[in-house]
Amino acid sequence: MKTRTAILWIVALCLPGTWVAAQRAEPIQPITPVTVADPQMMELGKKLYFDPRLSKSGFISCNSCHNLSMGGSDNLSTSIGHKWQQGPINAPTVLNSSLSVAQFWDGRAADLKEQAGGPIANPGEMAFTHELAVAVVASIPQYVNDFEKVFGTREVDIDKVTRAIAAFEETLVTPNSRFDKWLLGDDAALTATEVEGYTLFKGSGCIACHNGPAAGGKAFRKMGLVEPYRTDNPAQGRVAVTGRDADRFNFKVPTIRNVELTYPYFHDGAADTLTQAVEVMGRVQHGRRYSDEDNAKIVAFLKTLTGDQPAFALPQLPPSSDKTPRPNPFK
Ligand code: HEC
Ligand code: HEC
Repeated sequence: MKTRTAILWIVALCLPGTWVAAQRAEPIQPITPVTVADPQMMELGKKLYFDPRLSKSGFISCNSCHNLSMGGSDNLSTSIGHKWQQGPINAPTVLNSSLSVAQFWDGRAADLKEQAGGPIANPGEMAFTHELAVAVVASIPQYVNDFEKVFGTREVDIDKVTRAIAAFEETLVTPNSRFDKWLLGDDAALTATEVEGYTLFKGSGCIACHNGPAAGGKAFRKMGLVEPYRTDNPAQGRVAVTGRDADRFNFKVPTIRNVELTYPYFHDGAADTLTQAVEVMGRVQHGRRYSDEDNAKIVAFLKTLTGDQPAFALPQLPPSSDKTPRPNPFK
């Protein structure tokens, strides 16, 4: 009887498709692909995300600074806003931002919906007002039809606009990176050097802050734990929200998913390359100076965190109507 059970087990394990490699138990977990709860709302949000008419100039959309062809970032140290204004801080990627505890470097927005209202009315970004943005959308018949389909009403307001944008942003996750394949049991997904880089990353303690599915995004931590971080950027981090001195220079630990694509790095955008970012992190967070070889191994590991980028047909935006307020690019 025992032998028969054993044989049955062996047969079952060898049948194609029944053998499942065990997921590795690691402090970073694979990213789960999303199932879209409301496809129509998501499609509406996608249009709004790409629509520059939500800005005063009629030129700046969410995608201007969170370019989905460039890892959801603008690859600038700090962003360019309305009338070429210099932004105060580096634009984080929107990819996987739904996995974060809160939005912005200091966490001042609780979630994506709350966040999405910010840039539209920020004079240094899209420089519009919510009222004007809503008036533009409400003047475009095809948008109003979309709102009716999605929300059951032809009334456009900022709450619905930001809900739709957030629904789109929730789909911007990046599963299937080589690191995730390795986590799911595919040994061949990483090279020996990349695994050594990950071992160094864990062994140095980087993992204490960069963990979970986003390898970050879960906590506010000190920038410059063991050595002060020098910067000209006046941002003070989390203290701006809590007012507690202990939170001075605590920033949201950024996700390092797709970090290969989201240069330059840090809230001030001061590190142009991953080599520099690893050097700074090793020094200011751990008091470590890596050899060039070890630095390169960690960089090789970081590059395995690039997952499937958002892929879809570019949304076609409905044309303005005769009643649509016209843009003001130079005022
Ligand atoms: C002019 C450039 C610019 C535009 C336009 C812009 N953003 Fe941002 N975005 C930024 C910057 C800079 C930050 C970081 C600000 C901070 O943390 O204080 C940011 C932060 C975010 C974050 C938080 C990410 C994180 O990890 O904390 C999200 C999400 C986001 N923006 C989405 C949007 C959406 C949606 C739009 C369109 C409605 C938009 N952005 C328009 C520059 C821009
Ligand atoms: C104590 C928590 C902590 C530890 C430990 C830590 N980090 Fe960070 N990491 C952060 C924070 C916070 C930031 C953002 C700091 C800022 O921009 O001011 C960051 C930023 C980064 C960035 C830049 C990401 C971006 O998009 O700007 C990289 C890359 C990075 N860390 C890698 C590492 C590596 C490699 C190690 C180990 C050598 C490490 N981190 C250790 C908290 C930590």
